[in-house]
Amino acid sequence: MTRDKKLIVGNWKMNLNTHEASLYLHKLSGLVKTHRDVEVVLAPTILALQSLSLQIDRRQFKLAVQNFYWRDHGAYTGEVSAPQLRGVVEYALVGHSERRHIFGETDKDIRNKVQAAIRNDIQPILCIGETTTERVNNETIDTINDQLIGGLTNVTSEELKRITIAYEPVWAIGTGNNAVPADVVKAVKAIRSQIKHLYGVAAADDVRVLYGGSVKADSAADYLAIDGIDGLLVGGASLDAHVFEEIINKAHKGSKPDIKSRGGK
Ligand code: PGA
Repeated sequence: MTRDKKLIVGNWKMNLNTHEASLYLHKLSGLVKTHRDVEVVLAPTILALQSLSLQIDRRQFKLAVQNFYWRDHGAYTGEVSAPQLRGVVEYALVGHSERRHIFGETDKDIRNKVQAAIRNDIQPILCIGETTTERVNNETIDTINDQLIGGLTNVTSEELKRITIAYEPVWAIGTGNNAVPADVVKAVKAIRSQIKHLYGVAAADDVRVLYGGSVKADSAADYLAIDGIDGLLVGGASLDAHVFEEIINKAHKGSKPDIKSRGGK
């Protein structure tokens, strides 16, 4: 895992059927140029993963599963396991707030999923973030720390290299009420400081951290410019191929000034 690329993930949630997903992919691949400094990941309905995995050019896009069950096989009616997803997806969203708050997933479920993904060669994107109540009660940092400890228990330093953290304040998801960059700066610092506490300085510097929550084409660049933010997890705005392409382009362009300033120009 390296932090030299920006990671842009489109989470389509329970939108687009298999046919629509395929049309979308066709459209997006015509729009998006492959940039060496940007990695683009699509998380469609689980139903479309198999067909998209055949259609996709993996140099251009990668796939993520939105959810799966942590046991590898067995009598779990209706569930899909990480071994079944192996080779189909590169990434898995784990601990998304909709899974935590609508479907009651606990930190124990989440850490089991993190481990199931890793043992099946799928990179977890561990989503964390505080609710409105936690924010109002000044518990944002505590929530971040608790969810990191909860999700990463039993993860070794070597395994951590395969994990991406997505900071997604619950009150900002799907509300249009996005976090201001200053809040994201604080959250990213808290995440890296907790990773430092758990795994040391090098791990804290290396771990990839994304922001998610009502990201739109016109706010993407502000988040991407934050020191310590390595990409975006985009829900609603990823459903329009043109808007998503604009966001992807911001990630590409956003990386240019950094390179220039490092070169002293
Ligand atoms: P949103 O969703 O961009 O629609 O707020 C983000 C997410 O849930 O990952």
